[in-house]
Amino acid sequence: MSTQLHDERLRLLVDAGIALSSELTLDALLQRLVKTAAGLTGARYAALGVVDASGKALERFLTTGIDETTRTAIGDEPVGRGILGAMLRDPTPLRLTSIAEDPRSVGFPPHHPPMTTFLGVPILLRGTVYGNLYLTEKAGGGEFTDEDEELTRLLAAQAAVAIENARLHESSTRWLRQLESLHEIGNLLAGQIELDPLLGLVAARLRELIRARIVLVALVDRAGTLRIAAAEGGDGPILVGAELANDRSKMGAVMERRRSELVDVLSADPEVEREIAERAGIRTGLYVPLVVDGAALGVIAAHDREGDDPRFDRDDLRVGETLARRAAIAVDLARRVSSDAVRRVVEAQEQERARLARELHDETGQALASILLGLRSLEQAVEGESAHARIAAVRDLVVSTLHDVRRLAVELRPAALDDFGLEAAIERLVETYRDDSSPRIDLELGLGSDRLPRDIETTLYRIAQEALTNVTKHARGTRVSVLLTRTERSAVLVVEDDGVGFDSSVAAPGRLGVAGMRERAGLVGGRLRIESGRAGTTIAVEIPL
Ligand SMILES: Nc1ncnc2c1ncn2[C@@H]1O[C@H](COP(=O)(O)OP(=O)(O)OP(=O)(O)O)[C@@H](O)[C@H]1O
Ligand SMILES: [Mg+2]
Repeated sequence: MSTQLHDERLRLLVDAGIALSSELTLDALLQRLVKTAAGLTGARYAALGVVDASGKALERFLTTGIDETTRTAIGDEPVGRGILGAMLRDPTPLRLTSIAEDPRSVGFPPHHPPMTTFLGVPILLRGTVYGNLYLTEKAGGGEFTDEDEELTRLLAAQAAVAIENARLHESSTRWLRQLESLHEIGNLLAGQIELDPLLGLVAARLRELIRARIVLVALVDRAGTLRIAAAEGGDGPILVGAELANDRSKMGAVMERRRSELVDVLSADPEVEREIAERAGIRTGLYVPLVVDGAALGVIAAHDREGDDPRFDRDDLRVGETLARRAAIAVDLARRVSSDAVRRVVEAQEQERARLARELHDETGQALASILLGLRSLEQAVEGESAHARIAAVRDLVVSTLHDVRRLAVELRPAALDDFGLEAAIERLVETYRDDSSPRIDLELGLGSDRLPRDIETTLYRIAQEALTNVTKHARGTRVSVLLTRTERSAVLVVEDDGVGFDSSVAAPGRLGVAGMRERAGLVGGRLRIESGRAGTTIAVEIPL
C-alpha cells in the first residue's frame, strides 16, 4: 500500500468499509458506495454503472452530485458507449485529464453538466466485472491523483465483498420466503388428487412465486402427445388444449432432455415454436420438466417476469425446479388414482353384466323354456282350430323372446369368451349383428391358438362390440370389416366401415361409447386410433402383450 495515503483519508476509508458492509440491501449499499467514493476523492460527480449479464452494457446507473431536474433533463441513462464502454471492454483503472479530448469519447448529451477530469475504477467480484465506479470533476479543478486512484481501488475491493454479502443476504431471505411458500404448496398438492385443479394450482402458485406473467403446464397423454393442460395469466388460457410437437417445440425438447432451462430471448432460440410464442405474446422463458422416477410426464413453462427486466434468473429456476419435483409426484399420484377408479368402475361393470347375463340365461331363459314346454302340453290338451292357432302364435312369440334373451345374455357376457376365447366370442357377436338391415360384415380372424390374457380379451371384445354398434347406429354404410390379429408383441383389432364418418377430434357430449373404448384400451396399456372421413371410419386398437 502506498505510504502517501494520509492517515485521515485511510481512516475515512476504513469507516466507509464498515458502513458498506453493514448495509444489507443492495440498493442502499450501492447508493452509499457512490457517495463515499465522491467524498473520498473530492469528486463533484460520481456514478456507478452495473454491468448486465452480457457484460457488454450497463443495466443500472446510480449517480451522486446530479440533481433531479438535471437528471430528468439529460434523459435516458447511459448504456455504456464512449469512455464508459471503453471501461467495459478493458476493466482496469482509467484516469483522464479531459474526457472530451480522449479519442474514445462520444461527447455528452444535451443538458449534461460539463465534466473534464475523470477517474474510473472497476469493481470485480470473484474475477468478473460487477460494475465500474466513475468519478469526475475533482474539487479545486486539479486532476485525480495516484492516491485518489489507490483509495478508490481499495474502496472498490471492500465494496465487492459487501455487494457479494448483500446479494447473498437478499437471495437467501428471498429463498427462505419462497421455501415457506413451497412447503405450503407441497401440502396443498398432497391433498389434491384431481388432476385439473391440481395443475391449475401449480400454474397459479409458480406464477406468484417467481412473478411470471404467464405459466403453462403441458402433460403427455397416454398416446404420447404433449398438450397444454393448464395455464395461468395473460393470454395463457387460450392455449389450453394446444398440441405441441415433441420434436419441434421448446417444451418437447426440454422434456426429452429432462433438463430445465432459461431462455432470455425466445425469438433467438430456434427450438421455440414461433406460433405459440406469437399467440401468447411472450418474450422470455423458464422451462422445467416434470419427472418422476426418470420418466418425464410433462413440462412447466413460465414466461416474462413482471417488472423492468422480463428475464428469469437462477433463483427463479431453482424455485421452478423445487415446485416441479413436488408437482410431478402429485400429478403421477392423481393419474394413478383416477386410472384406478376407472379400472374399478370397469371391473364392477363387467361383474354386473356377468350377473345380469347369468340371471337372464338361468332365470328368464329357463322360465321361457318351461313356458314352451307348458304350451306343448296345452296344445295336446285342448282341441279346436282357433285354439291351436292362438297357442301357436303364443309359442312363436315365446320362441322369439327366448332368442332375444339369449342374444342379450351373449351381449352382456359372452359365455363363449370365457369358454372358447376371443375369436369364438367375436364370431358370435358378429352373428348377432347380421340381419337384413345391417351392412355386410367381413370377418378376418388371425389370433392363433394361444389365448390372450383375460383382461385383454374382454377389452378387445367390448371395443369390437361398441364399434359394431356404432357402425349400425351411425355409419349408414354398406360394408364393415372386422380384423383381429396378433403380432409378436401386440394384439390388434381393426374395425373399418364405408359410412359417413365423423369428426373424432371433438368429444361427443354425453356419449360414452368412443370415450369408453379409449379408456378401456388405455387401462391395458393399449392405444386406440380413429381415422374418419368421407370414405368411412377406421377404428384401430393395438394392445401390447
Ligand atoms: N362408425 C361411425 N360412423 C359415423 N359416425 C360415428 C361412428 N362411430 C361414432 N360416430 C359418431 O360419434 C358419436 C360418438 O360416438 P359414441 O359411441 O361415443 O356415442 P353414441 O354411440 O352416440 O352413444 P353411446 O354412448 O351409447 O355409445 C356418435 O354419436 C356418432 O355421431
Ligand atoms: Mg356408441
